[in-house]
Amino acid sequence: MARVALVTGGTRGIGAATARALKASGYVVAATYAGNAEAAHAFQAETGITVQRWDISDFDACTLGVKAVEAALGPIDVMVNNAGIARDAALHKMTREHWDAVIRTNLDGLFNMCRQVIEGMRERKFGRIITISSINGQKGQFGQTNYSAAKAGELGFTKALALETARFGITVNAICPGYIHTDMLDAVPADVMEKSILPQIPLGRLGRPEEIARAVLFLASEDAGFITGSTLSVNGGQYLS
Ligand code: CAA
Repeated sequence: MARVALVTGGTRGIGAATARALKASGYVVAATYAGNAEAAHAFQAETGITVQRWDISDFDACTLGVKAVEAALGPIDVMVNNAGIARDAALHKMTREHWDAVIRTNLDGLFNMCRQVIEGMRERKFGRIITISSINGQKGQFGQTNYSAAKAGELGFTKALALETARFGITVNAICPGYIHTDMLDAVPADVMEKSILPQIPLGRLGRPEEIARAVLFLASEDAGFITGSTLSVNGGQYLS
């Protein structure tokens, strides 16, 4: 029987590429979105992938949302934690709201979603949890104390949960994309991109969402059954860990 995959933030950017790739590989896929209903409905109409709106920073909304997805599609086998936001500012200019929004969505959201699926995965003795962290959680980034802290936190979470769940046949891994051509990059000033980001990428270009999706597909597959607690960098050589 086809495995069921849920991709948060799965209607745009890396998440959309991942949802499409999973579907093309035979998974039954659902995708969540938070705000951009127009993009989400267009995505659903085009791909046939079920989309559901909820805020992953809200624990109770995650409980209800996951229940609805499982009632419609069956138990979730593959959880792709992709949804995330950035609110860049140097710390001396960062507001409490900038900090809270990023931590609540990116880090609390990871707990809120994994907590919903972990018991079922343990009972069924199978699960794949794949979290899209970031190069900036590995190396830090000027203007991203909030985002870098959350993304580094996701890596610690991944390692701890991998240890807890290995004996239940569940693998838990993170992918650290570098700079990928998505809407999130729109917030990066053009001169910063030209002068201080692109020159640091040895492959000389931004990554493509599909290049992250293929890494997710691999980690979700049976072939990756012996990989857990790992961090896979997909960053064009920008940071070698
Ligand atoms: N490195 C070193 N110095 C920097 C810098 C950088 N990246 N950015 C700015 N500075 C310096 C400036 O040169 C300036 O120095 P001087 O005063 O000596 O001239 C000083 O910091 C202040 O600069 P600004 O007035 O431009 O600062 P700002 O507060 O208006 O903006 C910023 C700073 C928000 C960090 C802006 O530079 C920025 O948006 N940078 C991009 C951050 C980034 O890479 N975000 C990643 C988004 S993509 C993503 O998050 C996905 C992912 O996972 C990869």
